Amino acid sequence: MSALFTPYKIKETEFKNRLVVSPMCMYSSEDGFANNWHMVHLGSRAVGGAGLLFTEAIAVSPEGRITPCDLGIWKDEHIVKLKEIVEFATSQGVIMGTQLAHAGRKASTSQPWKGGKLLDVNAGGWETFAPSPVPFNDENPLPKTLDPAGLKKVIKDFKAAAARARKAGFKVVEIHAAHGYLLHQFLSPLSNFRKDGYGGDFNNRIRLLLEVVEAVKEEWPENLPLFVRISATDWAKGGWNAEESVELAKLLKEKGVDLIDCSSGGLIPKVKIPVSKAYQVPFAEKIKAEAAIATGAVGLITTAEEAEEILNKKQADLIFMAREFLREPYFPFKAAQLLGEDLSWPPQYERAKPN
Ligand SMILES: Cc1cc2nc3c(=O)[nH]c(=O)nc-3n(C[C@H](O)[C@H](O)[C@H](O)COP(=O)(O)O)c2cc1C
Repeated sequence: MSALFTPYKIKETEFKNRLVVSPMCMYSSEDGFANNWHMVHLGSRAVGGAGLLFTEAIAVSPEGRITPCDLGIWKDEHIVKLKEIVEFATSQGVIMGTQLAHAGRKASTSQPWKGGKLLDVNAGGWETFAPSPVPFNDENPLPKTLDPAGLKKVIKDFKAAAARARKAGFKVVEIHAAHGYLLHQFLSPLSNFRKDGYGGDFNNRIRLLLEVVEAVKEEWPENLPLFVRISATDWAKGGWNAEESVELAKLLKEKGVDLIDCSSGGLIPKVKIPVSKAYQVPFAEKIKAEAAIATGAVGLITTAEEAEEILNKKQADLIFMAREFLREPYFPFKAAQLLGEDLSWPPQYERAKPN
């Protein structure tokens, strides 16, 4: 059997294969609500045969949205449509996960296809929050520093979001601590200049993330997988780096996190990233080996052969793919054919299955 189509179990949750539809923002919600776009988009990928299907980053609070159109989970009313989507996806044999997120100083922008620029308070935007009053780029106004009450609210919001994710029926929660969003802003010395217990040395910078994990675990069932996505490096001098990622991963493992989803970058603009085929896989490999925790590899992995090689070399346990799943929702069927696997297709599609 191929490595890619070997089932993978975390606690009591079994993924039928190692292919994960990586979280992908759709910026298509109103007031945080999922709608028919999400049902069709996620539903198609659920039919497509992946082992694990993530929603896009789901905002834990309105101020934590990247754009006014982000998916959200800050009120109970959001649960209804999410539940419907999860139920459909589950009926197709895929495990569904959601990614809890807060954008921090990268919040309040327009949708990418409308320029992705900062949205002024008068144009539907809002005040943003960060560890320190340092904007993402020169064009942005200063974010507001999170005070002790603000920090408590962030932790409470992640906790309440985890409870709603459970009620919606998700089987995996991933905490988004990557791509320059709020929790990453706390991790990195390039965005965190605090003088209190949440800034300064490594243990202080990681404190908020660990407290968020603890709070989420109070609501997220012990028997269900908990992932954390990190940017393993800022790709910048003096920034967060792979060694710190390993140390963080060890501590996250102690706190009960099951898998580290290894991405990179996003903290500061104009950084030169050596983007190439599978370029982030070495981080998944290093963290897996040195922190002895399961990892997910992501980033420019687009073929069955590449995915198979990563798994065979034990560089990662799961393969996250994003853009390839937008081009080809049924990628797993094609991958299976290529690797000589006989995957069962939805009966409705069986007449199209190659012999
Ligand atoms: C349209 C789009 C939206 C994305 N939204 C998210 C997101 O919500 N959360 C996240 O962690 N990463 C997000 N990403 C990053 C992907 O999950 C993935 O890490 C990245 O695209 C690299 O993988 P790929 O080369 O397979 O596309 C997004 C990427 C794309 C293309």
